[in-house]
Amino acid sequence: MKKEKKKQTVAVLFGGCSPEYSVSLQSAYAVITHMNPEKYDTVLIGIDGDSGQWYLYRGDVDRIPEDQWMDERLCTPVTVSMDRREHSLCYMEEGTVKKIALDAALPVLHGRNGEDGTVQGVFELAGIRVVGCGLLCSAVCMDKEMAHQIVSAAGIRTARSFMAEKPYRETELMSRAEELGYPLFVKPLRAGSSFGITKVCRRTELIPAVERAFEHDSLIVMEEMIDGFEVGCAILGNQELTVGEVDEIELSDGFFNFEEKYTLKTSKIHVPARISPEKAEEIKEAAVTIYRVLKCTDFARIDMFLTPEGEICFNEVNTIPGFTTHSRYPGMLKAAGISFEEIVDRILEGVR
Ligand SMILES: Nc1ncnc2c1ncn2[C@@H]1O[C@H](COP(=O)(O)OP(=O)(O)O)[C@@H](O)[C@H]1O
Ligand SMILES: [Mg+2]
Repeated sequence: MKKEKKKQTVAVLFGGCSPEYSVSLQSAYAVITHMNPEKYDTVLIGIDGDSGQWYLYRGDVDRIPEDQWMDERLCTPVTVSMDRREHSLCYMEEGTVKKIALDAALPVLHGRNGEDGTVQGVFELAGIRVVGCGLLCSAVCMDKEMAHQIVSAAGIRTARSFMAEKPYRETELMSRAEELGYPLFVKPLRAGSSFGITKVCRRTELIPAVERAFEHDSLIVMEEMIDGFEVGCAILGNQELTVGEVDEIELSDGFFNFEEKYTLKTSKIHVPARISPEKAEEIKEAAVTIYRVLKCTDFARIDMFLTPEGEICFNEVNTIPGFTTHSRYPGMLKAAGISFEEIVDRILEGVR
């Protein structure tokens, strides 16, 4: 008789000290509610958006997306044990140290202090398996310039760009911008959800855009605008990869800013993208190359542009993409016949 596998204990992290805190609450809620309770015992760790404190959350899951989870009766400060033999979380209760042994940790955190390798590093240091991309890959993908350099070395086009830091000379930035041509994009080097990003259409808008980007990071990047539209590719797996259907972002104006990303007021997402099967195949192949060269593991969403000439240009990798039931990553896999439950199961497959 086949022996029943024992249940695995997986810590799911949500919230986070990041401007994308609220997005994480929505993503984590969807992931948690689609984890198979027969296979996994879920330990919930909420990270306070202001202090960064980690809490063991023992309340109702429904309070998470409402941002009602932070309640001292339901939350206990928790930390990771740095003893690599233990693989556990520690917290104090009634004056004694309690421990919870973990089989893995799944950060469902977006942006800084969560998607950027820092949290992954804590678990790697503690010898606990982290689900998703590891420390190095997460950190590299968070740094838009560094990711571009690696992908470009693999022969895939990236936008021409310049990095800048403070103090900067306005005249120098102006001449860099002339080289790139208008419109161009000014971005914080390491951010997400379009925070701090401006599409700059004329020279008078450049310096205000630069200052806005500096509110989010000490390094910024100016990028030439790529004509065409943005396409995405959802990848799942390690040696053997599952690739979802390519999606397409149809914009009616401007760019895919924070409001559009979460309301889709004037933009639309098409899955599959309205392109030829051959082009979709080419995009998937480029996405797989990018996933491999950046050493992604378990899952990632690869974003690219498709120009009117049919050229593929890399934009960025989201190592922890939006994970709500209506997000792009699960949407692309759903179009390839993979349900949300199955995605979560596949992501956690390596744990079992
Ligand atoms: N070089 C570019 N050319 C054209 N559009 C761009 C370019 N860079 C960014 N955008 C637009 O801005 C959006 C956000 O930029 P992105 O680099 O993906 O940042 P984030 O990490 O915040 O998603 C993109 O989805 C796209 O609509
Ligand atoms: Mg993006």
